[in-house]
Amino acid sequence: MGDRTAYLAAQGYAGELGYELGTVERRLGRLLIAAGPPRAAAWAANVWLDPQEIKVASISDAAAKLRAIQRNWAFYAPRLYRRATLIQEQLPKVSAKPLVFGTPPPSAPLGSWTLLDAETMLVSPRCTSPFPNGEIHFVEDHAGPPSRAYLKLWEALTVIGCRPEPGERCLDLGSSPGGWSWALQRMGAHVVSVDKVPLAPQTRARSGRSTGCSRMSCATRNGSWHWSRAGSAPEPAAILSARSNSKARLITRRLGALLRLQARSCATCSTTSTS
Ligand SMILES: C[S@@+](CC[C@H](N)C(=O)[O-])C[C@H]1O[C@@H](n2cnc3c(N)ncnc32)[C@H](O)[C@@H]1O
Repeated sequence: MGDRTAYLAAQGYAGELGYELGTVERRLGRLLIAAGPPRAAAWAANVWLDPQEIKVASISDAAAKLRAIQRNWAFYAPRLYRRATLIQEQLPKVSAKPLVFGTPPPSAPLGSWTLLDAETMLVSPRCTSPFPNGEIHFVEDHAGPPSRAYLKLWEALTVIGCRPEPGERCLDLGSSPGGWSWALQRMGAHVVSVDKVPLAPQTRARSGRSTGCSRMSCATRNGSWHWSRAGSAPEPAAILSARSNSKARLITRRLGALLRLQARSCATCSTTSTS
């Protein structure tokens, strides 16, 4: 094997990944193998950093060769699935427990492998993601959020290893029904949430509770701001539309004014604020 890298596309995005990478040597399902060292690839859920071909005589031989390299392996098998499953079953179990958002990702090295044909494995001991095939499964909240959109934000924040700190200000543009705003509020952020349609009731309801001075806010089409803040109006009239550039500029100016206004009022309320 020469100097090459394998990129596993996020589900449904192999076409986009192929376009992003340009020339690809070989493709197996969502796994795209390209010449050269690893490159940044926005559509890849996982990058196999040092893929090597290994010849195997049998299922047990394949498992033994993987175990000899390291303990933890995830397999990707768009073909020869039964044979690959039998090999994986002879390897130590990798925890499949869903992650509690906010807890650190697994730290043990996790390699990836696939079968190129019945006698040839492609194995990469090092990968960019500590999760099998780059997929993160969270312990979900089935009661609080208005939709499952919050899982996308949790995933993005987990992958980049960064999240808003309590008291930081977040601007959620196009926020309805409010999954991301709900998640941000739970992290203790002050959320300015903007949409042309109302937020779901459970997200609106949180606006008076999170950290005391967190609030949801929005604008009506006639340009006046409506606020929902701790202990006051519970329901923002969420209508803000940016269908033209001039309207977008107006909205930007109004948001700037809103954030400055909010910063001032947070500074005078009894709860903590970074502003
Ligand atoms: C996919 S949804 C967002 C879901 C949200 N992130 C969540 O977590 O629940 C996109 C939202 O953008 C809003 N939107 C689209 N164009 C808009 C505009 N010009 N002005 C205000 N809101 C807009 C839509 O009303 C819609 O609620």
